[in-house]
Amino acid sequence: MSTQDRLSLYSRNQLKLGLFGANCSSGRAVTKVPERWSGSWDDCLRLARMADAAGIEFMLPVGRWKGYGGDTDYQGETLETVTWAAGLLGATQRLTVFGTVHAPLIHPLIAAKQFVTADHIGQGRFGLNIVCGWNEGEFDMFGATMREHEARYDYAQEWFDTIRLAWSAAEDCDFQGKFIQVRQARAKPKPYGGSRPIVMNAGASPTGQAFAIRNCDALFSMTPKGKLQEFTAHVANVKALARRGGRQIDVYTVAVVTCRPTQREAAEYYRHWVIDNADWAAVDRIMAMRGVTRERFPDDFEERRHHQANGMGGLPIVGDPDTVTRELAQIAAAGAKGIALSFVNYLDELPFFREEVLPRLARMGLRETE
Ligand SMILES: Cc1cc2nc3c(=O)[nH]c(=O)nc-3n(C[C@H](O)[C@H](O)[C@H](O)COP(=O)(O)O)c2cc1C
Repeated sequence: MSTQDRLSLYSRNQLKLGLFGANCSSGRAVTKVPERWSGSWDDCLRLARMADAAGIEFMLPVGRWKGYGGDTDYQGETLETVTWAAGLLGATQRLTVFGTVHAPLIHPLIAAKQFVTADHIGQGRFGLNIVCGWNEGEFDMFGATMREHEARYDYAQEWFDTIRLAWSAAEDCDFQGKFIQVRQARAKPKPYGGSRPIVMNAGASPTGQAFAIRNCDALFSMTPKGKLQEFTAHVANVKALARRGGRQIDVYTVAVVTCRPTQREAAEYYRHWVIDNADWAAVDRIMAMRGVTRERFPDDFEERRHHQANGMGGLPIVGDPDTVTRELAQIAAAGAKGIALSFVNYLDELPFFREEVLPRLARMGLRETE
């Protein structure tokens, strides 16, 4: 079990694929269509087994404590991500499963032990997504104060330093930080197989990205629609900054896939779930939480609303298998190591994607045939 095995997500595929958001009701689709994702444990388990058998490399959950309301209470039911990961890791063979953890809401020594436990269950397939939080309502419910933006990452640095200490060979060690102090900390066992879990972060701000570059194996960044050139430059820049600091980092992105036998069917279904049946009340709440109002963005407010309905801003990939394959390949060519995908209903839609898109990606040399 080497760090390299973990970083490769246990596959030789050039383009890694994952599933994003399946632990939440509605997943990443802010829609009212009745077939929207349940987020139930049974569905997650079936999905993880199907993904594992198909050679999908990872599942990435969303760390969310409070739904967004609206007609569907979008993401109102969410399974806690580390226990979710532990269960899925116990039921799969190859899949890497991430836990998405709010650093300020859990003591790092407890967190470190939870991660090690999940990692042992998965024999080295647990991954950690560190989030600092952005949603004040969620912090209020814990009686916790959300720090100002820069301090969130200062705290996360100490939190992760403490985790690393707990994972290291050091015994009975102290940590004296500005926010976190531990004394004579003992943490056994260590992560599985003498290496540590893969660690990611999805900071978008310069501070968030600098945190990833300093600490993480992977940075997840959004690819704005039609801006692949900017994404290419972003990947190159992040990698160069990491190298300058003596580190190496991969850049991943996220996309929402609507794939159907023909271009027309895909466009029609996309229109159906995003435009005709979005949960606009939930969309507008998310927009308000992010400070996106019609007054501030009069020119493209409607476009922004559609963008939120579609995976809260995830890149929409809509088309027949050839089109979807081509667009995924373009993202790979822009330098992404992998893509975390969402579907309106992951279980219903993954089989078609597996049958039609995975072989096409294999023919392009981006993945091996299963
Ligand atoms: C792929 C991806 C996954 C994310 N997952 C979560 C999450 O599960 N929970 C959460 O509170 N924030 C999540 N975020 C938000 C980021 O952690 C981060 O706070 C956000 O991108 C803003 O960046 P900043 O913190 O650098 O300002 C995610 C963002 C992306 C792009």
